Amino acid sequence: MVHVSRKEHFNAAHKLYNPVWSREKNEEVFGPCANENWHGHNFELIVTVKGLPDPDTGFVVDLKKLSRLIRQEICEKVDHRNLNVDVPFMAGKMASTENLAIEFWNILAAKLPSITRVGKLHSIKLYETPRNFVEYFGPQTA
Ligand code: NI
Repeated sequence: MVHVSRKEHFNAAHKLYNPVWSREKNEEVFGPCANENWHGHNFELIVTVKGLPDPDTGFVVDLKKLSRLIRQEICEKVDHRNLNVDVPFMAGKMASTENLAIEFWNILAAKLPSITRVGKLHSIKLYETPRNFVEYFGPQTA
């Protein structure tokens, strides 16, 4: 199995705030991410596709096509947006890096067959800061 990855970038604003809790509790749990008037992050998104190379191309996935897909389906919908209020697929969800990674997986897993015959989505890696990142490997299957 070969793993092929593409990195894209976006920046977006959010806050982490649970309206059921007091302001003090939100500040205790979320720290600066609970700031009432929003704040931004420079996100790095790494999408990894796995498979055996297509005999016709030698590619698992054409990285130009993967880049275009990520930019069209993800970056154009979140870049320079407020994740809490501007992004339909995050409506009603906590705007955490974990939840973003899950939503990105769901979007890209559905679209990937349009650009590769052999590649399957392997992981979404999402950096919120250079030191904080999450990885998602898809829903658990039995
Ligand atoms: Ni934050």
